[in-house]
Amino acid sequence: MTDRYAVIGNPIKHSKSPFIHREFSKQTQQDLNYTAELVDLGQVKKFVDAFKKNNGKGLNVTVPFKQDAFELADKLTERAQRAGAVNTLSLSDEIAGDTTDGVGLVNDLSRNHKIIFKNKRILILGAGGAVRGVIESILNTAPAHLIIANRTIEKALTLKNIFSDLGSIDGCGFNELNNEKVDLIINGTSASLSGELPPIPDNILNNQATVYDMMYSAEPTPFMKWGQQQNAGLCLDGLGMLVEQAAESFYIWRGIRPDTKPVIKKLKETL
Ligand code: ATR
Repeated sequence: MTDRYAVIGNPIKHSKSPFIHREFSKQTQQDLNYTAELVDLGQVKKFVDAFKKNNGKGLNVTVPFKQDAFELADKLTERAQRAGAVNTLSLSDEIAGDTTDGVGLVNDLSRNHKIIFKNKRILILGAGGAVRGVIESILNTAPAHLIIANRTIEKALTLKNIFSDLGSIDGCGFNELNNEKVDLIINGTSASLSGELPPIPDNILNNQATVYDMMYSAEPTPFMKWGQQQNAGLCLDGLGMLVEQAAESFYIWRGIRPDTKPVIKKLKETL
């Protein structure tokens, strides 16, 4: 019987994960079946148990179930524990939870775009689940300093406290950024979803800085357009991150690393 995998979420219709994982499985000649499954709120545990009984070997988990997945897992990796969320479940006797978003972000920037993090000043905007999921991976790259700026300052300070043993990190509000200079700025707010731009001060970018939006769309996001106006060296969207986090999940499940470049290229063409 073919091993089954799926992404669960609500809504889930527009998920790119089936496309990505089918490309990975063709490329690596892994015999598996990957689908997108709409799960009703409050029904995650029930779905996971039934899926497991039906030869389900792994699940990707997206909005709004990353916390449910965290709670139902029998065991968690350290990085998932700190992230407080799970986007990858491996189903065997036990249910194992992991998070691959941070690795996905860092691999996209460092491998696909040759961005160096070490000794750089990095600013991340937002302090919700998306940001919490990537901070550990960013601090693992040994940046000079990581600033978390958020509309609600308390949430930025909470994240600072959760991760402060891993590196130089600070939390603040947007109005405290006026005298900052950074080499890399990452938008992890959900502002782009509604076509909005977080209130970032002008002249915050060092020469040749990189601007990265964790969101993606066919057109440049408002944040990427802001980066272009500020003469950033490079303005990127999060499509590569999406494929890289999928690749890390695929590796967890199958022990093989797919080549992400052709899949990113093909996915871009479908937008
Ligand atoms: P996610 O799981 O995508 O991180 P979330 O936990 O709801 O979603 O977090 C959304 C983030 O985007 C928060 O940091 C939010 O700021 P607040 O904590 O102050 O609510 C931020 N956000 C959403 N819309 C924004 C906007 N228009 N400008 C600035 N920040 C915004």
